[in-house]
Amino acid sequence: MRIPFLDLKRQYREIGSEVSRAVAGVLDGGSYILGAEVNSFEAEWANFCGVRAAATLNSGTDALILALIATGATREGAADEVILPALSSGYTALAVINAGGVPLFVDIDPRRYTIAPAAIEKAITSRTRAIVAVHLYGQMADMNAITEIASRHGLIVIEDAAQAHGASLNGKRAGAHGHAAAFSFYPTKNLGAYGDGGAVTSDDVELIEQIKILRQGGHVAAMQMSTAGRNSRMDEVQAAVLRVKLKHLMDWNRKRIELAQIYDDAFRGSRIETPFPVGGESHNFHLYVVQHPERERLRRYLFDREIETMIHYPFLLHQQPLFRKTGQQAAIPIAEHVARRIVSLPLYPQLSRNEVEEVAAEIMAFEN
Ligand SMILES: Cc1ncc(COP(=O)(O)O)c(C=O)c1O
Repeated sequence: MRIPFLDLKRQYREIGSEVSRAVAGVLDGGSYILGAEVNSFEAEWANFCGVRAAATLNSGTDALILALIATGATREGAADEVILPALSSGYTALAVINAGGVPLFVDIDPRRYTIAPAAIEKAITSRTRAIVAVHLYGQMADMNAITEIASRHGLIVIEDAAQAHGASLNGKRAGAHGHAAAFSFYPTKNLGAYGDGGAVTSDDVELIEQIKILRQGGHVAAMQMSTAGRNSRMDEVQAAVLRVKLKHLMDWNRKRIELAQIYDDAFRGSRIETPFPVGGESHNFHLYVVQHPERERLRRYLFDREIETMIHYPFLLHQQPLFRKTGQQAAIPIAEHVARRIVSLPLYPQLSRNEVEEVAAEIMAFEN
């Protein structure tokens, strides 16, 4: 049986009629950008994350860029340093550069795969202004330690929550831990639109108002431009889709956790290193990433049996030519070790238990 890494058509079939009604309502309503659906989704998303306000944007990358700019983490022309993990999506680092900052890459925690607090502490210089904490694969970063370091050094904390919709730590959801948080609603995310989309969440209502100005040309009033903003608006169709899907998000996350448990049980006692959820809903299993000493041979074996896998990510950020020339770079041994061994297995709410069991059985057959 062919098992695709991700099949979004299955999700659409599950909620297609609800989505069609919502989209038809928008098309019929005649308001297509920044209208009632966007306003409602912003209120619902802020409420879901447990913060006072949210601003929707065109993408997760724009959400990071505008969060960095609006919090003052990266000031124009100042070459402010921003600490971030070496293992993340390339967009995390691109956002820092596009916001005018200098990325400083540091190592990861070997079990959570998220930024290592001790490595942050070591990397801080007099030019450091902010930390971007990425909740990688859906696992919450160690926000207690990170916010403690940040407050001791007077640093701004931005959460990159692009993969962490609905994950929580100490009873607080992703999006409610830093000064601001950036979400992506790219279609493959746990909460994904049918196109691009993103949002910034924060308890700082003024900050969110500032981002709403920046997303629309920097206009403070009609025909009055005071800041160099951009065009990063969410359209009504995407907001309507996201409102439908938000109702399903936590059921889908629970399904992911159940499927992850099947993999965990099957791999117990083997040489496959499974993810290490810190507990409760601290991991939403956006991705199920294992480590294997013979990753390439395992991937080829699964590929030959029509089981698709991926690598998140095939390169570390500090090794990219674009980022190598920025800032000073200390060694990053844990991320370098992990990067040679990680492989992402199929896991999404519409995957059946049978399919997950088959993937696990094939992997165990490879092992024996
Ligand atoms: C960790 C992380 N940060 C940032 C982004 C950028 O989000 P977007 O693709 O919506 O710009 C993504 C997704 O691509 C991501 O996974």
